[in-house]
Amino acid sequence: MIKLLDKLTEQFEKVMAECGYDTKFAKVTVSNRPDLCEYQCNGAMALAKAHKKAPIMIANELVEKLSGNEIFSEIVAVNPGFINMKISDSFLASYIDEMASDDNTGCEKNVKPKTVVIDYGGPNVAKPLHVGHLRSAIIGETLKRLYRFKGDNVIGDVHLGDWGLQMGLIIEQLKIEQPELVYFDDTYTGEYPAEPPFTLAELEKIYPAASARSKVDEEFKDKAQTATLELQKGKPAYTALWKHIMTVSVADLKNNYKNLNVDFDLWKGESDAKPYIDAMVDDMIDRGLAHESQGAMVVDVAEETDSKEIPPCIIRKSDGAALYATSDLATIIQRVQDFMPDEIIYLADKRQEMHFTQVFRTAKKAGIVDDSIKLIYQGFGTMNGKDNKPFKTRDGGVMRLETLLNDVNNAVYDKIMENREESEENARATAKIVGLAAVKYGDLSNQTSKDYIFDTERFASFEGNTGPYILYTIVRIKSILEKYAEAFGDYNQITTGVNKKMTPSEKNLMMELSKFNAVIDSAYEELAPYKICGYIYDLSNAFNSFYHDNKIMAEEDKDKQKGFIKLLMVTKTALEKSIDILGFTAPDRM
Ligand code: ARG
Repeated sequence: MIKLLDKLTEQFEKVMAECGYDTKFAKVTVSNRPDLCEYQCNGAMALAKAHKKAPIMIANELVEKLSGNEIFSEIVAVNPGFINMKISDSFLASYIDEMASDDNTGCEKNVKPKTVVIDYGGPNVAKPLHVGHLRSAIIGETLKRLYRFKGDNVIGDVHLGDWGLQMGLIIEQLKIEQPELVYFDDTYTGEYPAEPPFTLAELEKIYPAASARSKVDEEFKDKAQTATLELQKGKPAYTALWKHIMTVSVADLKNNYKNLNVDFDLWKGESDAKPYIDAMVDDMIDRGLAHESQGAMVVDVAEETDSKEIPPCIIRKSDGAALYATSDLATIIQRVQDFMPDEIIYLADKRQEMHFTQVFRTAKKAGIVDDSIKLIYQGFGTMNGKDNKPFKTRDGGVMRLETLLNDVNNAVYDKIMENREESEENARATAKIVGLAAVKYGDLSNQTSKDYIFDTERFASFEGNTGPYILYTIVRIKSILEKYAEAFGDYNQITTGVNKKMTPSEKNLMMELSKFNAVIDSAYEELAPYKICGYIYDLSNAFNSFYHDNKIMAEEDKDKQKGFIKLLMVTKTALEKSIDILGFTAPDRM
């Protein structure tokens, strides 16, 4: 469906062409003086210069030509040459009706769908999920849903950090704790046990212990590095242990992501790139792209136009080990081979920008990707605590994701119990749904690259620019619809559209609603979920004023009441589709 502003612009293009003016000045925008008008076109000001006429003359000329147009209820030229307009109720109503009957609520799918790999989540196996990984999961999931909403073919890949030093650390720590395990007996030649030698709870303690030890014990750290290398080279005992670590840890991760309403099409990891690494590095050496530097193999990626230094990309360490960049490069080879994507989007902390610059440049230089494949790095800011420092537990440790979610759910639970009598069980179930919305909306409503302050109290509030407020609005609409159905019958049977004569708050609600396709498209083009949050906040506010100003259930004019109900239904659809893209849902009551 054509966007409302484009439709208005079209009207100006037509008359400007008739007058022999350049139609590039036809652009209509939402008014920045809502007290005077709803929309405006300032093109006459620019045209005046080119045509050496007074702007007001041109404005008058255009207004005269548009005066019979049914789209406008008012269109006036004002000094020095602005054109102010209001749109007619009947045009707006028909626009909303068209949205209502469209499967994608007026938002057009891409004519040529793209194939896109989104690399997000990025948890490190065997390390607890912490708040740093929360942003990647939340934003990546939203982009995946947004792209799908636009019709693209999207593959979401969790890209596990399963190949790094933490594996060697765990192996060496385990060797200290349980030296009798067969994995550490170099004379052992039998099959390795099918059962992991640790539980999840035990595994979760091993990594922190190992990491702490490596900071004070150089020898231990060296051993861990060697073990990592041996694992990467395929030592059977360590490969068997690694598989156990993976099984135990991935099961837990899946559970965690499920609670976040985040799901991945692929559960691949850095280790899956292994088969491509040797050939890739050798090839870069053979072709003279990589050269030796202090024992390591590096690719120069600095460009003349760089304003800051971009160091070479290290693709093989002096001991032969693969690095983060190596596995990212090899993963691109794999993704190109498997999916031939048009785009690969990476979600990672903005402090990883240098890494991605190096990887992308190396990939281009080595011909791993050509110009038809876009590599996009979407860096995100840090989630801070109220002290504006990276989020920590009270005792200064790394905040586990579960703890954070529990805190939010408890805050929401208290609010629910404050408002009304509710069974503990119901309130807990609702708190889980609302809590997730609080966390996700709190995150997504900020521009992705900015840091933000995680404030449990504010995020969990039922008022203001919060997830719970949006859900509260949806729940309110659902409850009115339910009441209507009880009193007057199934609202799905209403065949008439929204009202063609409307009250001011009703019109305002329709005007907000009509922005849906424009907002989704611009969020999509700019990878900007915060725009969707802004839209549903404005829409919720517009709905709540409408609700406040109009008696819906008590309305005596039954046709008018049907029009209200129809408007509620479209509003609900736009809100629900939006929150679905944002990755959360609304409860039936709250
Ligand atoms: N595992 C990484 C981390 O915890 C994030 C991975 C991002 N994706 C990538 N392909 N490098 O920082």
